[in-house]
Amino acid sequence: MANSASTTATHEGEPTRRDFLYIATATVAVVGTVATLVPLIDQMNPDASTLAAGGPVDVDVSKIAEGSQIVVRWRERPIWIYHRSKQTLAMLQSTKDTSLLSDPNSEEPQQAPYAKNWHRSIKPEFGVLVGICTHLGCIPLFYPNQSATTPVANWIGGYFCPCHGSKYDAAGRVYSGVPAPYNLPVPPYHFLNDTTVRIGEDPPNSAWDFGSILQL
Ligand code: FES
Repeated sequence: MANSASTTATHEGEPTRRDFLYIATATVAVVGTVATLVPLIDQMNPDASTLAAGGPVDVDVSKIAEGSQIVVRWRERPIWIYHRSKQTLAMLQSTKDTSLLSDPNSEEPQQAPYAKNWHRSIKPEFGVLVGICTHLGCIPLFYPNQSATTPVANWIGGYFCPCHGSKYDAAGRVYSGVPAPYNLPVPPYHFLNDTTVRIGEDPPNSAWDFGSILQL
């Protein structure tokens, strides 16, 4: 009979999702600084006890320039808030691009009903996503535009996971034929006013269980 040590070693060389989540947690700050130049901003309200308890986090989105993205922390996970340009919104609706996606209409429950739309958000111009690849949990990199530095051909930009080459569009919708099986998760959130987003809380009169998400 195999002992527990030999049992757990049978997948040596094939990292599990848990392994990658650990790596992702340990390296999120490095990736954010070196690869994407995405600022990790101070949230407006939370003190240490709020963050530790996984309570909601309020963010002022008025200072996010069009075409830029910030990262905030909620439940120890990176949450991306992307101020999408009109050009990006047009690309999200282009059938030339959406035909390449695995789940263009967000049929899989990777978001609440209030984010089940072509932009996967409450306001089209602000994307809010959990920045963890649905394959093995790496932190994808942010490529807001197609450019000379885009790592793959025939891609309009969005998010690229360098671990195994998964790519997502600017709404976190995964492309067909890549290792990641699902769109990036959308956390519960709503707008308290025109410029303040509360991460971690559904809109009033909307009850959704974030735990019902397929892959986080
Ligand atoms: S963790 Fe494998 S492609 Fe992202």
